[in-house]
Amino acid sequence: MQNQTEKLRVGVVGLGWAGETHLKSYLNLPNVEVVALAEPQEVRLTNVGKTYGIEALYTDYRELIERPDLDIVSVATPNHLHMPVTVAALQNHKHVLCEKPLARSGAESRQMVEAAQAAGCVLEVAFNHRQRGDVQVLKNYVDTGALGRVYHGKATWMRRSGIPGMGGWFTSREMAGGGPMIDLGVHVLDMILYLMKEPQVVSVSAATYSELGPRGRGSRNQTLVGTGGYEVEDLATAFLRLADGATLLVEASWAVYGKAADDFGVTLYGTDGGADITVKNYGWEDTLTIYNDTAGVPSEIRPRVWRGEGHQAVVRNFVNTVRSGDWSAHDGSEGMRRTEIIDACYKSALEGREVRVGE
Ligand SMILES: NC(=O)c1ccc[n+]([C@@H]2O[C@H](COP(=O)([O-])OP(=O)(O)OC[C@H]3O[C@@H](n4cnc5c(N)ncnc54)[C@H](O)[C@@H]3O)[C@@H](O)[C@H]2O)c1
Repeated sequence: MQNQTEKLRVGVVGLGWAGETHLKSYLNLPNVEVVALAEPQEVRLTNVGKTYGIEALYTDYRELIERPDLDIVSVATPNHLHMPVTVAALQNHKHVLCEKPLARSGAESRQMVEAAQAAGCVLEVAFNHRQRGDVQVLKNYVDTGALGRVYHGKATWMRRSGIPGMGGWFTSREMAGGGPMIDLGVHVLDMILYLMKEPQVVSVSAATYSELGPRGRGSRNQTLVGTGGYEVEDLATAFLRLADGATLLVEASWAVYGKAADDFGVTLYGTDGGADITVKNYGWEDTLTIYNDTAGVPSEIRPRVWRGEGHQAVVRNFVNTVRSGDWSAHDGSEGMRRTEIIDACYKSALEGREVRVGE
């Protein structure tokens, strides 16, 4: 980046739903120009390039990353490529916005954070759901101290029949790093840790199940996108202990026989008040309830929330951070902590015992 008035030049790597969403979000911003795309599927690459008028198209992401005229790279590939693509981009002095989860493991995430620190560049993770209107309102409310000390919380994302891309990279342990816990759980874990001001998670006791997926059940739209097997969990549940004695429950499913369709939310129990966000099928109205006492009797508040901007807000905030020049607090550490907690969940589930985060 030469100066504050020049346009930031962006490349997007991976052009599925997430990559195209990044691309559209950049195109809505002033002083940003998307100049290059990378995607190994040539038809998709050509179509997206044509749709958005982007001429520099690469089937090999390394060619995009080596362009000296790029300031920013968005990484929206399958999870196993987040680390190598991000580290390569950082080594070429690009600021990186990476899709969630930051990586398949805490160890991979650490390599990315170290690369960001060494390059002195921004590394941000796309946690778009924390940009929802209900989450932002609740965050402001929690920050006033009105809930008192939050001593227990729940974060859940439950799908009835929503295994994404059955047989493709999502259901490959090697490529995805896990199932719904790393895919959906990471969003609601992020949401609750953000609301609670980044408490330290000390230990985890978790269990995972793989009951429907391996029998070909629970696939979203009954689609088979690949020939791979079903190698990850379809339900995960975890009990987390925090440094201040508070506890959290985290639950995530892609497929389970239960009443949820595709529902997520958080619950906070505090010493002076409580709150929950209950989202059904990505709805946004009437999702937030705050609980306290009014004149000595239990009362409920239903704040009027707005939809929120999701990825648009993520991309805008990221671009503003890059422009601000104040990058020190944006090295991917937050995203790394989420992956370390998820590591502990999978280790606990495998070994059938409580595991300390980072052990
Ligand atoms: N934040 C969210 O709400 C959200 C939603 C969906 C997906 N995601 C994340 O975004 C990422 C992509 O998910 P998706 O649903 O778009 O998946 P997808 O499979 O639809 O798209 C991934 C794309 O990456 C491409 N790709 C594969 N190898 C590549 C390489 N070497 N170089 C460049 N591109 C390559 C694939 O061909 C594909 O087009 C995942 O990490 C996922 O967790 C986030």
